[in-house]
Amino acid sequence: MTTELRGNKGAADMLDLRRAVTEISPVPIAGVEGAAHRVTYVNPAFCLLVKKTKEELIGQEFASIEPIGQQCALLLDQVYRTGSAETRTVRERSGSYPLCSYAMWPVLSGESHAKGVIVQVVEETSINQDVVAMNEALMLGLIRQHELTEQAQRLNAQLEDEIAARKNAEAALIRSEKLASVGRMSAVIAHEINNPLAAVTDLLYLVRSIEGMPDPALEYLETADAELKRVAHITRQTLGFYRETAAPTTFAMAGLLTSVLDLMRAKVRAKQAVVDCQCDSALEITAMHGELRQVLSNLLANSLDAIGENGRIIFRVSLSRDPRDGAIRIRITIADSGKGIDSAALPQIFEPFFTTKDTIGNGLGLWVSKQIIEKHGGSIRVRSCANRGQRGTTFSIVLPQTASQVP
Ligand SMILES: Nc1ncnc2c1ncn2[C@@H]1O[C@H](COP(=O)(O)OP(=O)(O)OP(=O)(O)O)[C@@H](O)[C@H]1O
Ligand SMILES: [Mg+2]
Repeated sequence: MTTELRGNKGAADMLDLRRAVTEISPVPIAGVEGAAHRVTYVNPAFCLLVKKTKEELIGQEFASIEPIGQQCALLLDQVYRTGSAETRTVRERSGSYPLCSYAMWPVLSGESHAKGVIVQVVEETSINQDVVAMNEALMLGLIRQHELTEQAQRLNAQLEDEIAARKNAEAALIRSEKLASVGRMSAVIAHEINNPLAAVTDLLYLVRSIEGMPDPALEYLETADAELKRVAHITRQTLGFYRETAAPTTFAMAGLLTSVLDLMRAKVRAKQAVVDCQCDSALEITAMHGELRQVLSNLLANSLDAIGENGRIIFRVSLSRDPRDGAIRIRITIADSGKGIDSAALPQIFEPFFTTKDTIGNGLGLWVSKQIIEKHGGSIRVRSCANRGQRGTTFSIVLPQTASQVP
C-alpha cells in the first residue's frame, strides 16, 4: 500500500516535470483531444509561432489555427485512426510562415484507441532545406546518369550493328567488283581462245579423215574432239553469245561418273587414290550433261586436293524420297578421307573467291557448282570434320530426276 502511494506520487512528479520541461522548450508543442481535435494544451513556443495567446488557442479546433491546421488535418486523422506516431514535412511555404515538419504521437487510452495527440512543430532551418534540396538534386542526377548510361549503351550497340552492316556491304561490293572484273577478263580471254580453237577443231577433222588411221588413234582423236567441243561451249557461254538453247537431255548417271573419272584420271593416278563408284547402271536423270560433269569434276578435284597419298574417295548415286512432298530425287554423295574443313572456314566455302589453296586455288569451284545445282532445282550440302582420327568431308547433292526448271 505504502509502495503504491509512493509510486503514484512518483508518477505525478514525473508528469509535472514533463510539463515544466515542455513549457520551457523552444520547440512548439500542442496537445489536442477528441474527434474535433480541440486544443487542450499549447506551450509558449507554440503561441509564439502562431502569434496567438494561450487563452485564444485553448478549446479551439486545431484545424482553425492558420496555417498549421490545414497542413496537419489529414495527419491528425491518421494518428487517431491508426494509433501510431507519424511525421510529415511541408514542402511548400505558406505566406511568411516558415517551412515546418510535424511530429505527432497518440496519447493512448485503451489498447490502440487514441484519446488525444501531441503535436510537435520543428522549423526547417535553411541548412535542412538545402540538404533536402541537395539530396533531391543528387537523386535526380543519379537517375539522369543512369538514363544517359543506358542511352550511351544503346547508341554503342547501334553503332556496332551499323559498322558490321557496313563491313558486310563493303565485302559484298568488293566481291561483286572482283566478279565483274573476272567476268570482263574471262570474256577477253574467251574471245582470244575462240579463233585458235576453231583452227584446232578443223585440223582434228582433217587428221580424222586421213585414210588408214589406226583405231586407237581414231578413238583418241574422237575424245580430243569431244573435249574441244566442251571448251568451245565454255568459251561461247563466257562470251555471253551463247544461251544454252539445247534442252536438258536424259542420260545415265553411271555414264556421267565414268566420264568425270576419265577426265580426272591423271590426277587420280598421281595421288594413287582409290575412287569407289557406287551407282546403279539403270539410274537416269534429265539435266544438262556438261554442267553436271563440271560440278562433279569440281568436287572430285577438291577431294583429290584434300587427301594424302592412298586416300579414299567414294562416289555414290542413289534414289531418295523427299519427306516433304514424297517426290523421288537423285542423291549424289562424294565422300573423302581428306584433311577436312575447319569449322571457321565451313560457312564460307560456297562464297566466290574463298580458297585455302593460296596461289593454286581461285575459290570459284564450289560457287559455280552451287549455281549450277540450284539452276537445276537441286541443293548442295556439306558435312566435314577436321579432327584427328575422324577427318573427312562429304558433299551431298539432291536433284530432281527431271530438271524441268533448267532455262
Ligand atoms: N573435299 C574437301 N576437303 C577439304 N577442303 C575442301 C574440300 N572441298 C572444298 N574445300 C575447301 O573449300 C575451299 C573452296 O573450294 P572451291 O572449290 O570453291 O575453291 P578452290 O578449290 O580453292 O579453288 P578452285 O576455284 O580452283 O576450285 C577450298 O579452298 C578448300 O579450303
Ligand atoms: Mg575447287
